[in-house]
Amino acid sequence: MWMTSWKKRLAFTLVSVVAVLGAAAGQAVAAPSSADDVQPQVIGGTPAAQGEFPWIVRLSMGCGGSMITQQLVLTAAHCVPATGPNTSITATLGAIDLQDPNRIVVRSDYVHRAPGAGGPPGDDWALIRLEHPVDVPTVPIATTPDLDSGTFTVAGWGAATEGGPQQRFLLKAQVPFIDDAQCQSAGSDYLDLVPAEEICAGNWTAGGVDTCQGDSGGPLLNKDANGEWVLIGTTSWGIGCARPQNPGVYMQASYFHEAIHAAAASLGPRCAPAVNTNATAIPDVGEITSDLAVTCDGNASGQTRVEVNINHSYRGDLIIDLIAPDGTSYRLKNAKGDDGADDINESYTVNASSEVATGTWHLRVRDMFRGDTGSLKNWRLTV
Ligand code: ARG
Repeated sequence: MWMTSWKKRLAFTLVSVVAVLGAAAGQAVAAPSSADDVQPQVIGGTPAAQGEFPWIVRLSMGCGGSMITQQLVLTAAHCVPATGPNTSITATLGAIDLQDPNRIVVRSDYVHRAPGAGGPPGDDWALIRLEHPVDVPTVPIATTPDLDSGTFTVAGWGAATEGGPQQRFLLKAQVPFIDDAQCQSAGSDYLDLVPAEEICAGNWTAGGVDTCQGDSGGPLLNKDANGEWVLIGTTSWGIGCARPQNPGVYMQASYFHEAIHAAAASLGPRCAPAVNTNATAIPDVGEITSDLAVTCDGNASGQTRVEVNINHSYRGDLIIDLIAPDGTSYRLKNAKGDDGADDINESYTVNASSEVATGTWHLRVRDMFRGDTGSLKNWRLTV
């Protein structure tokens, strides 16, 4: 079966790490720096300052990432499992020291893996949605190739030597752009480089500076005309780390920015949750409607969330619908099917991406059967 470059690369890494450890790091290429510097060096790098990359993220599976909205982490596809709900990843952010008592730790709730990932080489990007927004700055993604050359900055908590351990403190380094033809001339896996989708960087002749295992998904950066960081790529693969004529390979964001932004829009929510806490009695064989006003640019998300809390003596009596401002209704729950249970404390997800977010949304609750009653305690809508 066809394996992508980074898949082949991962297989290679397992072998090479063992080999390096077994051979007492005989192949490690990290250039030792000044003797008075006790900080383990990223390959050719230096410690990052607190706040220098305020949107950088360490992910629990041992990858890096960048906040592109206050709830979405951009990382590498090869760092995550398939697209779908996923609460198994934790993101650590807001600190260069992974043990900083002030670090922010948030769990994931959904993963979107690039649709082409796992097929031919390239497409090594993914978005992780956090379970709630985080109040940190975000980094813009390059939307043109204008800054896809020159000297880039990389950062991460990955290995500081080929085969070495992960780092506690964030390290950064500068890596020169390497053009596609030269990168392919490295041979081996580099022959599978996808020039449009991947961008190479490193010291071609001398090596000595690179990202390494554990940096994947982290940022490759350049500065725009105003001196602001722009995300040019995300760390993907390389043969070994910092070896001469074996550059680091990065997902090229200027090629994927539309796909990434479209995925980000579909993942939402971008809008603050709205809550209605006016308790409303649900009459027997009756119907109630509760309103919520939302103000937020653009459309609702494909993952619009409706949390409903109802006291009831027989929940099987109830049909619940979410009604968009234009009157379109979305069924959250049918009557029956759950006979015997009573209260409803549920979170429903609907695809409301064709709805304009701003306007008055309604929750309609209908009691279909004689005999039991209850009341809507509150509901919360995150479009
Ligand atoms: N695939 C690696 C990871 O999962 C990144 C390797 C980067 N290698 C390099 N030589 N630049 O962390």
